[in-house]
Amino acid sequence: MTVNGTERVVDDVWAGESLLYVLRERAGLPGSKNACEQGECGSCTVYLDGAPVCACLVAAGQAAGRQVRTVEGLCDGDALDVVQQAFLAAGAVQCGFCTPGLIVAAHDLLARNPAPDDATIREALSGNLCRCTGYEKILDAVRLAAARRAGREVAR
Ligand code: FES
Ligand code: FES
Repeated sequence: MTVNGTERVVDDVWAGESLLYVLRERAGLPGSKNACEQGECGSCTVYLDGAPVCACLVAAGQAAGRQVRTVEGLCDGDALDVVQQAFLAAGAVQCGFCTPGLIVAAHDLLARNPAPDDATIREALSGNLCRCTGYEKILDAVRLAAARRAGREVAR
């Protein structure tokens, strides 16, 4: 599979191994978090062929030959993506366990809908749980990212 633009070969995958396990334990990409391993919390969200999925629910073998993009892969070199920057600027990170999944989900939302209203943001992030209940700041972060993206696009 290709992970963040680099071809990765993983040997000796065991039958029950998930894509999340491969990313974290074999590929050295611990950004995607393992909180529930049951598809409930969204903290393991990554792009698979451009669509967000819970990596804990994807069998490693299912990712063979496909494109995976993790929260690490949203950066451009050392430069954080606008959504990553907005989460920092808005103070939307407490323990940070939910943050990578939320960032990928918000990144996907803004790619599909650059100017979402609050109801749309809440709906798009409804599969991502934050046990620190930092939702207001998370909403602020997504609004900020949308505004910054719009400003950037106007400036071009
Ligand atoms: S760890 Fe995958 S959804 Fe919770
Ligand atoms: S910041 Fe702790 S789970 Fe969301």
